[in-house]
Amino acid sequence: STIHLIGAPVDSGKRRVGCLMGPDAYRSARLHGVLEELGHHVIDHGNLVPDAVDLPEHPHLYQLARTVGWTQALSRAAASAAGSGVPIFLGGDHALSLGTVHGVAAQAAEAGVPQFVLWLDAHSDFHTGETTESGNLHGTPLAYVTGRSGFPGFPEVANPVPETQVCIIGLRSVDGPEREMIEASEVRRHDMRDIDEHGIAKLLGPFLDTVAEAGGRLHVSLDVDFLDPAVAPAVGTTVPGGATVREAHLVMEMLHDSGLVGSMDLVELNPMLDERGRTAQLMVDLAASAMGRKVFDRPTQRLL
Ligand code: ARG
Ligand code: MN
Ligand code: MN
Ligand code: MN
Repeated sequence: STIHLIGAPVDSGKRRVGCLMGPDAYRSARLHGVLEELGHHVIDHGNLVPDAVDLPEHPHLYQLARTVGWTQALSRAAASAAGSGVPIFLGGDHALSLGTVHGVAAQAAEAGVPQFVLWLDAHSDFHTGETTESGNLHGTPLAYVTGRSGFPGFPEVANPVPETQVCIIGLRSVDGPEREMIEASEVRRHDMRDIDEHGIAKLLGPFLDTVAEAGGRLHVSLDVDFLDPAVAPAVGTTVPGGATVREAHLVMEMLHDSGLVGSMDLVELNPMLDERGRTAQLMVDLAASAMGRKVFDRPTQRLL
C-alpha cells in the first residue's frame, strides 16, 4: 500500500519554537526507509507551505493568521492524500491537526465513510478560541473538528467529526473549561488512571470495534507528550506519568492489526529539546509498529 509522507513544519501553535525541525528529524531517523523495509510504497512529498492569509493580529490568539494559513493548506493536502493511500503528517505542533482532520473528514464525507479520530495525548486539546487561557492554538484542534464555534477566520467545518467517533487516551493535563466541555460531550476519554487500572488494550479495543462495526476509517493523532517524558523528552509540554514504550507500541500494533488506520499525525516533536535523537527515533519506531512492524522485525542495533 502507498504511504504519503507530508512534512508539516507548523510552529505557530504555541510560543516555544522548534517543532519546525520535526519533519527533518523524522527523515534523519530514517522513517522513509523503515516503512519501505516493511513493504510499503512510500512517497515523501517534502514540506508543505502555509497559505498567505491576511488577517489582523488577534488580541488573544497567538499567530492566528499563520495558523489559519496552515489549516487551509493542510486541509487540502489531507483531503487529496486520504483518497489515494495513507498520509502520515510529520509535525509540527498539534495545531496542524486543525487542518489534517478537517481535510480527511471532508474526504471521508465525500466517499461516504464515517470518520473516526483517536487522540493519543496528555492533553485534551479541547479549547475553543474563547476558552483558551494561553491563546495557543495547539490546544484547540479537537474542539474545532467536532464543530464548536470560537474559531475566527478559520475555514468552516462542513463535516464535523461526531463526538461519539472521537476517543482520547492518555489524559493527565486538562484545563477547567476543557473538562466542562468534554464532560458535557459524548467524546470517549481515558486518563492515565484508566490505563493503570484496566490496561491500555482494554480501552482501545472497544473503540476499534466501534470503528470496524461502523465501516469507518480512523485518523490517529499521536502527540509526543502521550509518552512519559523519561522516554520522550523532546516536547515543550511534558507532563510526568505518561505512557510507557510498551503501552505505546501495543497501541500501534493493535492499530495495525485492525486495518482501520487511514491517516496519522506525528506531532509536537521539538528536536531542540531532544537527547541524541532518542525521541525522534522512538516516534519512528512507533510509526513503524503502526504500519506493520512486529517485535521480531526490529533490528537489534541501529545506527543513527
Ligand atoms: N491546555 C494547555 C493550553 O491550552 C496546553 C495545551 C497543550 N497542547 C498540546 N498540543 N501540546 O495551552
Ligand atoms: Mn496535543
Ligand atoms: Mn499534548
Ligand atoms: Mn500483533
